[in-house]
Amino acid sequence: MKKALPAQTIVLCFLLATGLVVLQPAPAQAPAPDSSAIEAKAHDMLAKLTLEQKIELIGGVDEMFTHAEPSIGLPRFKMSDASVGVRTWGPTTAYAGGVALAATWDPDFARSLGQSLGHDARARNVNFLLGPGVNISRSPVAGRNFEYLSEDPFLNATVVVPYIEGVQSQGVIATVKHYAANNQEYSRHDTDSIVDERTLREIYLPAFEAAVTKAHVDAVMDSYNQLNGVHATQDDFLNLKVLKGDWGFQGILMSDWDATYDGVAAANNGLDLEMPSPRFMNAKALLPAVQSGAVKESTIDDKVLRLLRTELRYGFTDRPQFDGSSTYSVADRAVALQGALESLTLLKNEGHTLPLDASRIKTIAIIGPGAWPAVPGGGGSSNATAFQPVSIVAGIADLVGPNVRVLYTRGLPEMSDVFWNSKWDGDVKAEVFPSKDFSGAPQASTQPKIADYQNVWWGAPDKTPRTVRYTASFKAANAGKYLLLAAASGGDKYTVSVDGKQLLEQTQAEGQVPLSATLDLSEGQAVTVVADYRPAFSGVRLGLGLMSEADLVAPEVKQYASKADVVIAAVGFNDATESEGADRTFTLPYGQDALIEAALAANPHVIVTLTAGGAVDTNRWLDKVPVLLDTWYPGQEGGTAVAQVLFGKHNPEGRLPVSFDRNWADNPSHQFYYPEKGADTPLEVDEPGHPPVTLTIGHVKYGDKLMVGYRYWTTTGKHPLFPFGFGLSYTTFKFSNIKAPAMAASGSTVPVSFDVTNTGKVAGAEVAELYVSDPSAKIDRPERELKGFEKVRLNPGETKHVTLNLDARAFSYWDENAHKWTIDPGKFKIRVGDSSENTPLSADLNLK
Ligand code: BGC
Repeated sequence: MKKALPAQTIVLCFLLATGLVVLQPAPAQAPAPDSSAIEAKAHDMLAKLTLEQKIELIGGVDEMFTHAEPSIGLPRFKMSDASVGVRTWGPTTAYAGGVALAATWDPDFARSLGQSLGHDARARNVNFLLGPGVNISRSPVAGRNFEYLSEDPFLNATVVVPYIEGVQSQGVIATVKHYAANNQEYSRHDTDSIVDERTLREIYLPAFEAAVTKAHVDAVMDSYNQLNGVHATQDDFLNLKVLKGDWGFQGILMSDWDATYDGVAAANNGLDLEMPSPRFMNAKALLPAVQSGAVKESTIDDKVLRLLRTELRYGFTDRPQFDGSSTYSVADRAVALQGALESLTLLKNEGHTLPLDASRIKTIAIIGPGAWPAVPGGGGSSNATAFQPVSIVAGIADLVGPNVRVLYTRGLPEMSDVFWNSKWDGDVKAEVFPSKDFSGAPQASTQPKIADYQNVWWGAPDKTPRTVRYTASFKAANAGKYLLLAAASGGDKYTVSVDGKQLLEQTQAEGQVPLSATLDLSEGQAVTVVADYRPAFSGVRLGLGLMSEADLVAPEVKQYASKADVVIAAVGFNDATESEGADRTFTLPYGQDALIEAALAANPHVIVTLTAGGAVDTNRWLDKVPVLLDTWYPGQEGGTAVAQVLFGKHNPEGRLPVSFDRNWADNPSHQFYYPEKGADTPLEVDEPGHPPVTLTIGHVKYGDKLMVGYRYWTTTGKHPLFPFGFGLSYTTFKFSNIKAPAMAASGSTVPVSFDVTNTGKVAGAEVAELYVSDPSAKIDRPERELKGFEKVRLNPGETKHVTLNLDARAFSYWDENAHKWTIDPGKFKIRVGDSSENTPLSADLNLK
């Protein structure tokens, strides 16, 4: 029987055939293992340094470089973000990385991605890639989930190992981050994650552990947060006990950018390199500390040796980092396309609406902000500017060709238009209070709109704290749904209430995240809107609008939809609305629910594509649309991949790397996600040469413990909207013939084999997922846990025999009393299937 070619081969053959690909030069040598010569050279270099020079080497310079020391022939070395593209600085190839990589469930693709990122880095003289990010997706609103991987430690660990090996094989150091328990973006500098050791070891640490012990990653980045009351950058448990002790990490432990808070504590507790500059681990703090014995000189020596040894091993001092490959890499476009094709996840396909048949379509309407321009990635330090990102509009138009009419409209106004076009009932009252808390006698004035969200200054620098209260009336012309929309600059705080009920609140965000709510108003209903605005610094940067959804959605949406054979509604987030530095909303950005409803009112064939780092609220429209295709952040070739999947040129093969919640409140972390109210504590930070500052630390108790994602859903017997591991295909698969030993010795490797058959009519890929349950454990364990998987490509009628080997860890839990991985001999159940909830095969196993 003919074997299905892997997607990568097909794509590459196509690009080679069309002349789009010029093969890359052979990959650079992987770094040679430690040799005594390198060790001797590192010690020799160290011996020539004064204590001052050594201290200089453990702090970064110029934002993205290590410190040079010409006297020992040490140049500075360059760093660059990160997981989805090498962005230093300027255009690059933007890949489907992060959550999209996890959605591929394909370790081989992870390796190709790592290799591509590695040579992209070499082409830009980059020595350290500041990725991958492997933090667990604990809740859907966390602002950087798109950049991380999944909710499952085994999936994260399995894809991150080949990714890191791929990067490092090119002579570039990978940096696994953010270590550890950094699972939200709100107040990311001021939170303390309170996590018990078992939860850490079983959920939040395994991807880091695999990066260190299996992939031999050469750099690790500590996170911003505290863990159990101690900043990660000075955490003895994380850095010395676990990372350098239990896992034997020999590489460089660097801080996140400005995540260091105490030079002596950081020096003594494992931090090797303070980035981006030595604000704390500097001569002012460390010279007296070494003299007094508070920090041993050997501790500083160890850090310098780790840097030197690693840099020497990569040959950074002996060869140019630039390897002659191109910065615009056509070959990498194939990798970017492969990632997108493998990650697109089909969640609903009622009545076999997909694949579409281009020959039967005359007009296609494409609507929504996600369709153009392209949305390759989310926002923040991972954001990579692609040379030529392909939008969904361009991807579809290119695929269907000139005989199909393509109609596109964004369908929604820009945010500023909502603020400017809101029709308040009369003027808005603005009261400026000479205080931080709306006390004192305000200066009142009136204005027609609240549209100051861009910087508007109060004139000359003004040290007086001020707060502003806006009061506006609104009268609904018609009965229906109305959008309340607000946005302010990052750092600003505000609340918005309607008739006394608070509907919006921005407490802290580094970026500008618009917040919205939907009001149901009756005809003629009048409401009073009050916004209490606390600017972070002098000036007003608030926008606030209220508009009926009927006015919001452009008339072209219905016009185009009614003329079209099919409508593609491209909704979701982008690099402004889902970004590092702030959490995102669970609801879609403003107006997008209304947009889908408007299209549906004109045409029932509405196919929704969703760009997001995880689950979103689909409640208003999911029952009414035939198709939902989750595109994650698909990188620069996303539009091409979406078109290929919609029109059946590629059979969708992505699987959910996160459970897809129906509501944010259903998520197991929901009640534990924010800091305990009233329990904040002050922390004085003493930066040498600066007056002390006091931080307010919020304490976030991870009360959901092991119950993250599908572990919660399968243990409680409740169901999310779509389960972890789920994804549809244009073909069907059957699992059969499971074979596992009935009995095995505890600690031995247990082989489990089974068959997967393509029972449908087209070639496709299935992900066989293996879950282990431990019903006779002495302690409570999650009902099932992913411990093996394999992506299987099959032609119609083809069967593949799969064997997954389960090692001791697959049956173990972390015993908090014994402080070690432990297996309770007894009964285990092994389940195999295509999602955490659909496991048609099972086998019983007894471990002796
Ligand atoms: C981010 C890191 C990033 C660093 C350098 C920080 O703000 O948290 O992930 O690598 O900046 O850009």
